[in-house]
Amino acid sequence: MTRRFDGRVAVVFGAGSVGPGWGNGKAAAVQYARDGATVAAIDIAIDAANETVGIIRGEGGTAEGWACDVTKRDQIVSVVTDVLARFGRIDVLHNNVGLPAMGTTETLTEGEWDHAMDVNLKSVFLTCQAVLPTMVKQGKGAIVNISSVAAVRYTGYPYPAYYASKAALNHLTASIALEYARKGIRANAIMPGMMHTPHIGKAIVGQYASEAEMVEKRNALCPTGRMGTGWDIAKCAAFLASDEAEYITGQVIAVDGGLTVRC
Ligand SMILES: NC(=O)c1ccc[n+]([C@@H]2O[C@H](COP(=O)([O-])OP(=O)(O)OC[C@H]3O[C@@H](n4cnc5c(N)ncnc54)[C@H](O)[C@@H]3O)[C@@H](O)[C@H]2O)c1
Repeated sequence: MTRRFDGRVAVVFGAGSVGPGWGNGKAAAVQYARDGATVAAIDIAIDAANETVGIIRGEGGTAEGWACDVTKRDQIVSVVTDVLARFGRIDVLHNNVGLPAMGTTETLTEGEWDHAMDVNLKSVFLTCQAVLPTMVKQGKGAIVNISSVAAVRYTGYPYPAYYASKAALNHLTASIALEYARKGIRANAIMPGMMHTPHIGKAIVGQYASEAEMVEKRNALCPTGRMGTGWDIAKCAAFLASDEAEYITGQVIAVDGGLTVRC
């Protein structure tokens, strides 16, 4: 059976998960592998990357783990060089890393603002800058950036740098798509809505009295009555990165159970 990423290499930044279970990046890395891709699983936490690698190999797939902080240009360049030496090409660049940085416009420090901008926005500029020359040489490539519904909606959480960085990420995606449209390279973004991932148990739970209250309130906010999962994001990402989406570029797609179209 031919699978849609057979012979292709997917590079996933933020391929681990901050806790047990399935985060958006971990699910995406495994989904690319299930669809035939060789996966470079890259994460600031090498144990988290290697856990994803173990799952992929356990299912008969091919993957290698690398440690890298996406805010550091030299680390990104070094990993991309290694991936090319090992696997020879890069067909998919998946940018998953993102952090909320809780704090109001008055309480958020300048350092927290800068860090959120570096992690959520500058990182994508840096990974694209490192990978695009290879995609240009290949005459083909697909970039998938993980944004958030917070790019286009006030979600109720106090995280001004998150709103601003994700909004900018949407437009960065469009600008890369147009810059490279005639070179066979596509760039799209996904805006997850309320997702039930390990990430919320770390980054969002502090906004509620308990984890149970967080789950109940986030479920209630969703038109479907329930949060989505990392697999909802992974399946959309695999579609966008595949040839089935060859005429889709510069788009920002909400995977949010209808959240952003409700009044
Ligand atoms: N879960 C949600 O409800 C939700 C909603 C909207 C958007 N998102 C977006 O989804 C993405 C994260 O999803 P996830 O479930 O995989 O989260 P996650 O927090 O589990 O992150 C995945 C991995 O990123 C790694 N990471 C963190 N900082 C890094 C850095 N500087 N360099 C390299 N790796 C780093 C972590 O170690 C982790 O293994 C983010 O972009 C986030 O903004 C999530």
